[in-house]
Amino acid sequence: MNLQQIKLRFGITGNSPRLNYALETAVRVAPTDITVYIQGESGVGKESFSKIIHQLSNRKHGPFIAINCGAIPEGTINSELFGHEKGAFTGAIDNRKGYFETVNGGTIFLDEIGELPLETQSRLLRLLENGEFIKVGSSKVQTTDVRIITATNKDLFAEAQSGKFREDLYYRLSSLPIKVPPLRERPQDVNLLFRKFAFDLAEKYHSPEIQLDHDAEDLLLKYSWPGNIRQLKNLVEQLVILERDNVITASVLRQYLPEQTTNLPALRTNSQSSAGSDFSERDIFYKILFDMKNEMSDLKKIVLELLQKGTSKEDILEGNEAVIQRVLAGSDVDLASPEITISRPDAESPESDHDHHHFVIEPEDSVNLEENLSLEDKEEELIRKALLKNNGKRKKAAQDLGISERTLYRKIKQYELD
Ligand SMILES: Nc1ncnc2c1ncn2[C@@H]1O[C@H](COP(=O)(O)OP(=O)(O)OP(=O)(O)O)[C@@H](O)[C@H]1O
Ligand SMILES: [Mg+2]
Repeated sequence: MNLQQIKLRFGITGNSPRLNYALETAVRVAPTDITVYIQGESGVGKESFSKIIHQLSNRKHGPFIAINCGAIPEGTINSELFGHEKGAFTGAIDNRKGYFETVNGGTIFLDEIGELPLETQSRLLRLLENGEFIKVGSSKVQTTDVRIITATNKDLFAEAQSGKFREDLYYRLSSLPIKVPPLRERPQDVNLLFRKFAFDLAEKYHSPEIQLDHDAEDLLLKYSWPGNIRQLKNLVEQLVILERDNVITASVLRQYLPEQTTNLPALRTNSQSSAGSDFSERDIFYKILFDMKNEMSDLKKIVLELLQKGTSKEDILEGNEAVIQRVLAGSDVDLASPEITISRPDAESPESDHDHHHFVIEPEDSVNLEENLSLEDKEEELIRKALLKNNGKRKKAAQDLGISERTLYRKIKQYELD
């Protein structure tokens, strides 16, 4: 079966190189018993991939079960997956087989693997290493023959780094990763998918097929699709049901597209570059940096003026300790430098009130208030600060920085901050 036939059989629309590459990988690993790790944002089609792998494997006549690890309560997950002995816990009135026993000879798809409790993770690791497991409340070692496919929309490496996921299990699972690309990184597929859904849903609702006008098509392409294919499908469904006019304009379409969650400009590239999303994250990051740098310069000016005016450092520190100390710490301005002269505005001048901002530094341009740090140093410093502020909690630090956890982890590695 070639790729085109596989797409047809499994209802996969799209022809972007990265999607094709992910599909080719899936096809190639399917007949083996290798554990596969599917990574991708929410709604990119991870579940479809798990089905393809099972169907194209030698286990296709065996059972397939998809388990959402995040949806099973922690208290019962071990028993659900591995089974339990009668009397193992209150309410265990019978022996019960777990999925790993009932799916013997088949495939288990563990979705949202990052949600697995740590104890379950150790049980899973054992199973992956030698096919062995023990029912809850039992001491008898059993074996099973199950092919495991996992998926996550989290950065599991990051989870492993922060201790939320067993590192050994992470490496065991991720040896064969399939990365399903987000929709914004396969712009050439957006229109294809739109037309496919428009066609399917027109049939489903017995209504004429909707079409996009030129501007609407453009808007669709530029949108960032945080919910990926699922979001696009839902959008088309809403349009089919709610819009009377079959031709959808950009202004109509806009009403259905939620605002970007960030209040910084969305800098999406339409190129097919595989680094598409990385670029926008980096751009946003630099924007924050430049903004901060400017604010810092302003702050430094103010502090400098206050200091030169004769206000004691202690006085200034009193009210604004945190802010000012941070500024002073990062400042390479020599306060005693003879280059800096401060002129007080005329006391009689109508503008002169008690506002410190009215003090002027002269000659303004000769004062080097900029830090001579490269942008990278600045970035590193910023990350360090965010981590420090949040006691090393990376999730919170990433939020503070306005970047994704994934980017933060990459940066931490890059600057060797761990
Ligand atoms: N290439 C594709 N062509 C057509 N439909 C697709 C494609 N990929 C995914 N879909 C559809 O998009 C929807 C979302 O896919 P799926 O449930 O597999 O996403 P997911 O990656 O598992 O998301 P989550 O992480 O939120 O569970 C499903 O309805 C699926 O049928
Ligand atoms: Mg899913």
